[in-house]
Amino acid sequence: MKSSRRSFLEAGLALPAALHAIPSLAETPRTDETVSSKDSSFDPWVEIHRENLRHNVQEISRRAERRPILAVVKNNGYGTGVVNIAQLLEPQAEIFGFAVVKFHEAISLRDAGIRKPVLLMGPFDEKNLEEAAARNIMPMVYTAQGAALDKIAAKLQKPVALHICVDTGIGRVGVPYFQAAPLIRDSANRKSVQIQGTMMTFAEDLEFDKEQLRRFQETCGGLEKEGIALGKKHAASSFTLFQHPDAFFDMVRPGMAIYGIHSENEFRHTGVMDLRPAISLKARVVYAKKLRKGDSAGYNRAYMAKEDVWVATLPVGHADGWPRGAAHGAKVRINGEMFPVIASVSASHCIVEIGSEERVKIGDTATFFDGQSGSRPEDVSEACGASVYDLTMHLNPLLPRRIV
Ligand SMILES: Cc1ncc(COP(=O)(O)O)c(C=O)c1O
Repeated sequence: MKSSRRSFLEAGLALPAALHAIPSLAETPRTDETVSSKDSSFDPWVEIHRENLRHNVQEISRRAERRPILAVVKNNGYGTGVVNIAQLLEPQAEIFGFAVVKFHEAISLRDAGIRKPVLLMGPFDEKNLEEAAARNIMPMVYTAQGAALDKIAAKLQKPVALHICVDTGIGRVGVPYFQAAPLIRDSANRKSVQIQGTMMTFAEDLEFDKEQLRRFQETCGGLEKEGIALGKKHAASSFTLFQHPDAFFDMVRPGMAIYGIHSENEFRHTGVMDLRPAISLKARVVYAKKLRKGDSAGYNRAYMAKEDVWVATLPVGHADGWPRGAAHGAKVRINGEMFPVIASVSASHCIVEIGSEERVKIGDTATFFDGQSGSRPEDVSEACGASVYDLTMHLNPLLPRRIV
């Protein structure tokens, strides 16, 4: 099934670090998280795979020919927990710094002791701007902020380091490329400002991307000829890492590839990078029972048993981040076997069809996705049409995170 990769991208959940420092399950062999007795051992949990993260960063670095990596950890670190992921990645030399969208995520990183550069790609007001500058968080700027920057720099007795975002055609945020020169010149001429980077985002339309690249190069080239220092130029998301090696500039800016997931299912078989999923969703079977022929399961009797059949109930629903669409093709792994999700996904439950034999017991571990072939997020995406961005970014921030 073809899924739309960006369908819910910008709506991803994000909550402060405090919300992630929750719990782990009693029988977990090892975790770096706080243990809380308030979680049931049946509750779903998210695993973050340290070794796969390390590997993915090295793969990206190889692909980007050792250019620094600005790791996108927005939307709650793509489900891993924004602080968890930054703490895991920070020690790797390939990682230059971190990019987030929400102001509170940037603050969480500094509160947690993250020292590498942090780029705030989302909105801020003047009070936020001052706090950001005071805490060495670089704002992404694309409108005239000169007066506020002068005031803040005078108060802090240091220039405000920032990145300028140029819109070359995605039409979302960024100063339009044909109006960028005056804004960038103005920033460059202010003592209150230090331009540390100039960036753009591709629309990820292969043909139009070429035109966007041309616009960016022309805009930057003209300013550089005037002697204006633009800092590090960057544009490359995961898609760009696969598709446009001519647009890696001074630094790459991927998100999904760091988590070991192909942003487009087509990239899986290209061999460009060996990405290993670093996010898993698991839970334990809460109930297993035999339906008799003619029995139903799910709201609106969405499933009707054609024969006597064993089913298992899993305590994972759309409120946990497991998409409703999973009932249309996704499979869950239990005891090494794949079982289809049936009926409908409700807020806190889903049901899988086990077959004519009782092959699953209460308490068995169910894997919704992990790094194993057949159970990767990309496999779930292909099976039911949910985007891998939805599968990761919609994971409820309150679920326990275990670092394995
Ligand atoms: C501005 C910007 N740069 C980089 C990324 C990283 O994208 P991806 O996760 O596809 O690598 C995103 C995420 O959508 C973004 O909004």
